[in-house]
Amino acid sequence: MLIKLPHTFTTKDGRSMLVREATWQDAEKVIQYVKLVGDESENLTFTSKDFNKTISEEVQIIRDHQKKENHVFIIAEMDNQIVGQLNVMASHKPRLFHVGEFGISVRKSHWGLGVGAALMHAMVDWAKQSGVIRKLNLMVRADNEKAQSLYKKFGFEYEGTNRRDMIINGQMHDAHYMGLLID
Ligand SMILES: CC(C)(COP(=O)(O)OP(=O)(O)OC[C@H]1O[C@@H](n2cnc3c(N)ncnc32)[C@H](O)[C@@H]1OP(=O)(O)O)[C@@H](O)C(=O)NCCC(=O)NCCS
Repeated sequence: MLIKLPHTFTTKDGRSMLVREATWQDAEKVIQYVKLVGDESENLTFTSKDFNKTISEEVQIIRDHQKKENHVFIIAEMDNQIVGQLNVMASHKPRLFHVGEFGISVRKSHWGLGVGAALMHAMVDWAKQSGVIRKLNLMVRADNEKAQSLYKKFGFEYEGTNRRDMIINGQMHDAHYMGLLID
């Protein structure tokens, strides 16, 4: 049975976690969240310094995700705080409309509790019910085995390597393309 959002999950340590679509009222919290996670991991493509959205720009981004049937902006909340986020974007072009690209992050304080798995579950079920998404794609640092293990659990498969995808502290990192067919 496919889940519909909002949906309440139980974390691995027995706490309640609400997974829902973001609304424009979340804009300020989303900005704070993105700045925090950007500095908690070297597996993302940005740091807090690269993220300078204003509240009104973030409101527009969230509204765009709500309006477009091939986009979704999902957040995981515990105790009213955002602890994880996942968003899917896709092209407006008819030939690419079915291909969703996504990014996912979880607050470091909440790693290993099942937040990432809940967000993946919510996304895959959303895609299956969207009626338009037929492929989900992601890019992940080649050495980020933890994230790759999460994606494989949801059926994602390795599709190729993008060499020299990122430079962090002067060191180059390859990235893997992974994808899931939605039927
Ligand atoms: C990668 C990330 C999203 C995983 O989220 P999470 O909430 O910590 O993961 P979960 O607790 O839901 O675990 C799901 C699966 O991930 C893998 N995993 C989680 N923690 C792991 C660890 N320490 N070592 C190895 N695998 C691990 C396991 O396969 C796990 O499944 P299991 O519980 O059945 O063993 C999160 O750690 C994160 O945001 N990391 C920093 C940013 C990032 O890497 N984003 C992805 C960019 S492509």
